[in-house]
Amino acid sequence: MTKKPFLWGGALAAHQFEGGWNEGGKGPSVVDVMTAGAHGVARQITQDIEAGKFYPNHTAIDFYHHYKDDIKLFAELGLKCLRTSIAWTRIFPKGDELEPNEEGLRFYDNVFDELIAHGIEPVITLSHFEMPLHIARQYGGFRNRKTVEFFERFATACFERYKNKVKYWMTFNEINNQMDTSNPIFFWTNSGVQVKPGENPQEVLYQVAHYELLASAKAVIAGKKINPDFQIGCMVSHVPIYPYSCNPEDMMASEIAMHQRFFFPDVHVRGYYPAYALKEFEREGYKLDITDEDLVYLKKGTVDYIGFSYYMSTVVKADAKNDNRDNIVNGALPNAVENPYIKSSDWGWPIDPEGLRYTLNRLYDRYQLPLFIVENGFGAIDELENGNQVHDKPRIEYLGAHIKAMQTAMDYDGVDVIGYTAWGIIDVVSFTTGEMKKRYGVIYVDRDNAGNGSMKRYKKDSFEWYKQVISTNGASL
Ligand code: BG6
Repeated sequence: MTKKPFLWGGALAAHQFEGGWNEGGKGPSVVDVMTAGAHGVARQITQDIEAGKFYPNHTAIDFYHHYKDDIKLFAELGLKCLRTSIAWTRIFPKGDELEPNEEGLRFYDNVFDELIAHGIEPVITLSHFEMPLHIARQYGGFRNRKTVEFFERFATACFERYKNKVKYWMTFNEINNQMDTSNPIFFWTNSGVQVKPGENPQEVLYQVAHYELLASAKAVIAGKKINPDFQIGCMVSHVPIYPYSCNPEDMMASEIAMHQRFFFPDVHVRGYYPAYALKEFEREGYKLDITDEDLVYLKKGTVDYIGFSYYMSTVVKADAKNDNRDNIVNGALPNAVENPYIKSSDWGWPIDPEGLRYTLNRLYDRYQLPLFIVENGFGAIDELENGNQVHDKPRIEYLGAHIKAMQTAMDYDGVDVIGYTAWGIIDVVSFTTGEMKKRYGVIYVDRDNAGNGSMKRYKKDSFEWYKQVISTNGASL
C-alpha cells in the first residue's frame, strides 16, 4: 500500500492513561481538576482538587506503574509507533520554574527506551490538554504572553533531553477545539482559559490563539536548532462541514464554517494570518496584541507535517436554527443539522469513513504537506465475556472502513500520508466525558466509571485483527 515504511501505530495522551498524577514530583494540571461526566452531562472544572470529588484522570489506567507490561503488549500487536504526550507537569510541575524536574524527565527516558527496545518509535505531542494548573490559575493560561515563554522552555527541555530518541513531534493537540467557545472544557484544556462574565469569547479566543500559535512557532524554531532532523507538526481536529444540499446558500454556509477548521492550520503551515481572519478582526474591532516581531516568528516557525484527528463529519444548512445545541456534537455551529445518510455512535458521533478520504484530499490540496492521521477510533461500550473475551465487531468495522478510505486516498488520489495511529489503542479515560465505559482500545482494561476494577488488561477481538492489518501493511483488508 505504501512506498516507504508506514507508521502504523496507536495513540494515547499522558493524562488519559498514565495516572500517577502526584508521583515523581508531578504537579497538578488543568485536567486534574476535572470531574467525571457522562454523555450529555458536562465534566466540572473545580477551583482546586476538592475532597470527596472523583477525578478520573488521577489514576487513569495507571500506565505509570504498568508501562513495561503495556509496552510488551504493544510490541506483540506489532505497533511501529506509539503516539503519546509528555505531561508538562512532570517536567515543570508548576510551569514557571527555570529548571526541569529530573525525575519526570527520567520517567520518559524509561518509557522511550522501553519502546525503542521493542522496535516502537515514540511520536510525541508536547501539549495534550496538560497545562500546569498553576499557569492557568496564576497567569490565566494562554491569555498571558508569559505562557509563550513557559511553553518554549518546556519544549526546549524535551527537545534537548530526547533529541536522540524522538524524531516526530507535535506542538499542541487539537489546538482548534477552542473555536467552539460554547463548551468551557475546550478553552480550559487547550489554553487554561475560562471566559469571564462580560467578555466577548471570540475576542479572547483570537488573543489566546495568537499566543499559542506564537508558542508553537517558537518551539519549532528551537527544535530545529537542537536537531535539524526533527519533524515537527501541528495537530488539529478535523471535522469536515458538509453543505446540506446543492443550494448555493448551503454551499456558502459550509465554506464559511470551514474557516473554523482551517484557521489554525492556515497559520501553522503558511506562517501568516489568512485574509478571512484579518477581515474578521477588523470588522469586529478586536484589539489584539500581535507585534511585528511575532509575525516574523510565525513565518519562521512553520510546521513540517499536519497531524490531525478524524472521527466524524458534520453538516450545515443555511436556514437552520439550532436551538438545542446540547444535542449537537461540535455545537459551535448554530446551523448544524443531522446527516440523514449516516448513522451515529452511542455517543452521537456520526460515523463517516468516506469523510476521511474527503478530508485527506482537502487538506492535501490546500497545504501540500505530508499528513499524519494521529487519531481515529470508535468509542463504544465493550463487555468482558467468559472472563477474558471482548467481541468488538463494530470497532473492527469502523477502523477497517476508515483505513480503507485512507488507502484509497493514498493509492488512487495520491495523498501523502505518513502514518495512522488508532486512538486509545488501550482503553483510557474519555476526554469529553471522563468515562471509562466509552472505550476505544484493542486492549480492554478492567476499570469502571467509578474507578473500580482489577486494572487487568485483556486482548479484544480487534487486537488480532489490527495485528494482521499492520503485519500485512494493510493488505489484509
Ligand atoms: C480527541 C482528543 O478529541 O478525541 C483525545 O485528542 C480524545 O484526547 C479523543 O480522547 C476521543 O474523545 P473522547 O471524548 O471520546 O475521549
